[in-house]
Amino acid sequence: MADLKTSVGEISEVEEVPDETVAEQILKLKRERNALIFVHNYQRPEIHRIADFVGDSLDLSRKAAEADADVIVFCGVHFMAETAFILSPEKIVLLPDMRAGCPMANMVSQDDVRMLRKKHPDAVVVSYVNTTAAVKAESDYCCTSANAGDVVRAVEGEEVLFFPDRNLASYVARNVEKKIIPWQGFCPTHEQITREQIVEVMQLHAGAEVIAHPECTEEVLNIAHHIKSTSGMVDAAMKSNATEFIVATESGMIYPLECAVPEKRFYPPSREPICSDMKLITLSKVLYALQTLEPRVVVPEDIRIKAFGAVERMLEL
Ligand code: 13P
Ligand code: SF4
Repeated sequence: MADLKTSVGEISEVEEVPDETVAEQILKLKRERNALIFVHNYQRPEIHRIADFVGDSLDLSRKAAEADADVIVFCGVHFMAETAFILSPEKIVLLPDMRAGCPMANMVSQDDVRMLRKKHPDAVVVSYVNTTAAVKAESDYCCTSANAGDVVRAVEGEEVLFFPDRNLASYVARNVEKKIIPWQGFCPTHEQITREQIVEVMQLHAGAEVIAHPECTEEVLNIAHHIKSTSGMVDAAMKSNATEFIVATESGMIYPLECAVPEKRFYPPSREPICSDMKLITLSKVLYALQTLEPRVVVPEDIRIKAFGAVERMLEL
């Protein structure tokens, strides 16, 4: 049945109906609205099944830049929908639950970036896509988990201020010969993954390879066979000779991996990492968003133009 628990106030007029019926209504309304549904890899399986595009932050921002639609329904978290609006301001961008934020993105503010830039006036500012539009607007370049190393390598200058993820920053610093000054932000979901939780599962599945997201801590990355963005994980699992994998990232990733490579097995760490923000999006909320064309994500034009520069410079690289 449709999960109505998380936002009863917002969707109280929607009757509780089977998921298939809600999905059918969504697909019908999507056509009428000329809408596209963008879905991040971590979303619930039933959300994957109504998607036009599924991907990581880089895939989805590329698609947003070229999407031919009047409406984008973004099933992910706030910074992702904001990035879609930054790239496609003429479209209506809907985030079915406005509370779906990214705790890491909220660990750095525009003032923090200005303050650190003042201390290091010659440094280039690179911000992870997991930031607010206001932080992107203060940045020279944006990057994602799929291209952070390439972006840092390519930017002019030998000193880089990297916001906000300290784990991604230290992963990049190990691979690029530049001085990286990290902000001390982190993803609470990835930081709770420990080496011990992975080793426990390795003991049950000898021969399993570890695929980790670069938001994990160094101790986890040190035992990983593959360090990849969420979509990069699918590629790695396809290409590897291994048949079993321990997936050190948000546990929603197991579903797209199983769909893409059904002949292989995927296991989460012994304590399942769950991003509760990602799970806020439900079919009922998607339907409600398409019915009402709310809630919308909008970025003030002065901030959008500056943030667009940082995102565009990344896409050009
Ligand atoms: P990806 O861009 O790799 O999908 O990562 C997004 C994210 O929020 C990871 O926690
Ligand atoms: Fe943010 Fe972490 Fe959730 Fe990704 S998994 S959206 S980085 S809190």
